[in-house]
Amino acid sequence: MASEPGIQIFVTDRDGIVTKITSNPSQENLMQLLYDNDMDIEASCGGCASCATCHVFIGTDWHSKLPKRDSIEDILLEFQEHFDPLSSRLSCQVLLNESMDGMSLRIAPEE
Ligand code: FES
Repeated sequence: MASEPGIQIFVTDRDGIVTKITSNPSQENLMQLLYDNDMDIEASCGGCASCATCHVFIGTDWHSKLPKRDSIEDILLEFQEHFDPLSSRLSCQVLLNESMDGMSLRIAPEE
């Protein structure tokens, strides 16, 4: 199922530059939105939760709008050098929904 169109996300890249990007109906998850907008997300596994190259940090004020991390996401993230228990997410596991409109996130450093 495609996401609602027009969800705006504010992305801080690895240089600290903030860019506003907007979803389109073909993007189901946050990784696809970041990847399509050249936000330096490698996503080498294509979104099947096995590479962690889509790692982002999302502030706790947005957590009530997000699906919870499942055990597979937890395990993969815990092996990342820059893992933050409070804010780390695999962006491929975060399905877009309109309640995320206006959300901010930061791209995790490269491992
Ligand atoms: S794209 Fe590989 S874990 Fe998200």
